[in-house]
This record gives sequence, C-alpha cells and structure tokens, in this order.
Amino acid sequence: MWIKGGRILDASGRTDVFGDIHIEGEKIAGIYPGGTNNAAGEIIDAKGLWVIPGLIDMHVHLRDPGYEHKEDLMSGSLAAASGGVSTVLCMANTHPVNDNPSVTNYIVEKAKTIGLVRILPTGAATRGLAGKDLVDIAAMKRSGVAAVSDDGMAIQDSAVLEGALQEAFRYGLPLISHCQDRSLSGHGVMNEGALSRELGLEGIPKAAEDAMVKRDVELAEKIGKPIHITHIATMRSLEIISEAKDRGVGITCDVTPHHLLLTQESIRGHGTNAKMYPPLRDEVDRMALIEGLRTSVIDCIASDHAPHARHEKALDFKDAPFGMLGLQTLLPAILKIHVDYQIDILNLLACVTINPARILHIEGGTLQPGERADITIVDPNQAWTFNKHHIVSKSTNSAFIGATFPGKVIFTIARGRIIYSQN
Ligand code: DOR
Ligand code: ZN
Repeated sequence: MWIKGGRILDASGRTDVFGDIHIEGEKIAGIYPGGTNNAAGEIIDAKGLWVIPGLIDMHVHLRDPGYEHKEDLMSGSLAAASGGVSTVLCMANTHPVNDNPSVTNYIVEKAKTIGLVRILPTGAATRGLAGKDLVDIAAMKRSGVAAVSDDGMAIQDSAVLEGALQEAFRYGLPLISHCQDRSLSGHGVMNEGALSRELGLEGIPKAAEDAMVKRDVELAEKIGKPIHITHIATMRSLEIISEAKDRGVGITCDVTPHHLLLTQESIRGHGTNAKMYPPLRDEVDRMALIEGLRTSVIDCIASDHAPHARHEKALDFKDAPFGMLGLQTLLPAILKIHVDYQIDILNLLACVTINPARILHIEGGTLQPGERADITIVDPNQAWTFNKHHIVSKSTNSAFIGATFPGKVIFTIARGRIIYSQN
C-alpha cells in the first residue's frame, strides 16, 4: 500500500515533509520525501491531507466487562478507529475491576478477536480500587497490562501509593495517578466557586487536585521513581509539575481536550454532560493548560473517554455520573487548538503519539521505517460541527456536541489495514 502526496508529520524525528509512504504488510517500509514514481499496489491519494502516526490515547474507559450498556470493547474500538486513534489504554474501573489476571485475559482475548485497534489494559493498583491492598503486579504484568492505575479512585494513603510506585517500577510498568484528595473534594460535583453557589451545587476546591499532585511529586522525588499524573485541570497543579520537572523529578502528565477547550460555564448549556472528574475549571486554568502545551510542560493529551448511558446522565446534576466521551473528538480538538492558539502542530501531535509511546514503553507513535503501520490521515481543512449522528459509541454524553472543529479524520490504518475511512 502507498500513501501518496500527503504532508507527512512525525513528531518523533520532527519530520514535516511532503511525500509518499510505503507500507508492506503490517510495517512501514519506507518514506519518500518529494515522492517516488515506482509505486504499485493499493494507492491512497493524500494530496492536501496530513499523514500522521496513529494516535495513542492513554486514558479511556471502555466499560467492558460489566458496563456494556455504556460501551464495550467493540463499540469503543469503532469509536477509536473513527477518531484516528489506533491504540488505547483502558482503565481498570470495570465490573469486575481489572485487578486480577482473569479480567486482563478476558480483555486481551476479546481485543484480539475484534482486531481493530490495539487495546492495552491497565491493571488496578489496589484490590477492588479500594486503596488498601496492592494487587499482584507481577502477575498482572505477565497477563498483559501496560500500566497500573486506580483511576477514578485516587489512592489516598501515601504509603500505599509508595508501595504501588515501587512495585510498578520493579516490573517496568508506568503508574498513572488520578489526583484528588477526597477529604477536600467530599461530595462535590463541580468546580467550587461563584457558579457552584449560584447553581446550589457542592463544589470541589482546586486544592483537592493541587494538594494530591504535590503529594505525588514529593513521593516520586523521595523514592526516585517516575509517576504519571493524569488529567490535570488546574493552573496550580501545572505549576507544581513544572517546578518538579525543573528539579529533575521523573514526572510526566496529561491533559484532556475538554479541560483545554471548555470551562465550567459549559454546565449551563450541556448540564450533566459537562460533569466530569476532575471538574471543568475556570478560564485562567484553561489558558494555563494551553500554555503548558506551548511550553511542553504537558507531555500528553488523553481523552478520558468516559461513556455513560442516557438514563444515567438524565439524573439530577448531583447524582449523575462523572465523565464524557472523547475518542472521536480527540484529534479534532487538537486541530482546533493548533488553529486557535497557534501551537506548533508537531508539539501537539507528540502529545498523542511519541510521548505516550515512550511513557508506556510501547512501540508505535512514529512513522519510522520498520515501525508498525499505524497511520492516520487527516483533512486539516474540512470544518465540521460535531453532532449526535457522528457518534459511534454506545453512549452520547459529550459536551462537545455542537462544537465546530477545523479538520476531520479521513482514514485510520492499523497494522497496515484500513480500519476506518470517511463515508
Ligand atoms: O470523569 C471521569 N469519568 N473521571 C473519572 O475519574 C472516572 C471516569 C469514569 O469512569 O466515568
Ligand atoms: Zn480519572
């Protein structure tokens, strides 16, 4: 297969050239800047399009096993493929929780049968996500988890987190930390401030995140092991991470498209679809995160794809579950950030390709010859408005409904096979 005449953008080598890509079997066989005449076989005309590595989304909830009415591995795979995402890291808050090899094996085997995108399971750090007893991380590693995380349930006990960090490191697995001090967040459901008071809803102070990020930094520094902080949402936590990086602490972080493009004001129009954890914050936080992309303090952008059924999101704001969809709007949101804030496209693409590949120690995220042929082709000039009809997930909870994006995914290729094409 040949992809001809596109603009090839690969952050791993800071490549930005027009040319052809040759795919043989499951691998990238060669890149030809300027193009080549000796192309035979299936040809994709990419003139006017961008050709980029398939996206790696390092934070998704696929709900399978146990909550298949929200999403399952098949519908989640289709959503990923249509979003240009060829690798997902799925979180462990399934039912049962992925805290033992039998659940991991189920996910790995089902993903193999589906055979669309690469689905990498995350193992829970503690049994039942209860924050107390560590899982058998060695056994989880053997059964195929790519990371360890109690996402959704932040580990409150610092000694437990320290043990998890040590064990995860010992088995070469990154530890992903969702930062939330529950003694501060209480039963809060949105950002604490004037709007929460106006709406009569219990607020979550920013300090609930900031204090936990600070704790995680101190622990990582003290024991000299790396930690990845997921979905940061406040200006202060970004500052803490930036200072820690300057000191040489092994810390990395990701941010979601919704925290980059939306604020708590979205609750007015989108109601419970704008309820997520961490909550949407203020404009100052949002703009700080945008600047964190510009300065590359933020390593990754991950969707926190969190499907919930219509009847669940139809509950009162205080009772509805946290989260919104993200797989199909991840790349469109990145294109919007590039256009609206003039942030270098290679820096942005690094956040969904080579950076997560490095943090997760996995192959992919690059277009180097010899690498797996996971490639996404984008039309950067096809503006469109996201609506319910575009959604291929089982759920439709998104605060991006009605948002306009400047560009669209045209093809998704995974291991040399087209798994999505527009129309
Ligand atoms: O918004 C969220 N949704 N945040 C979480 O931490 C969990 C997730 C979910 O599982 O729905
Ligand atoms: Zn989370």
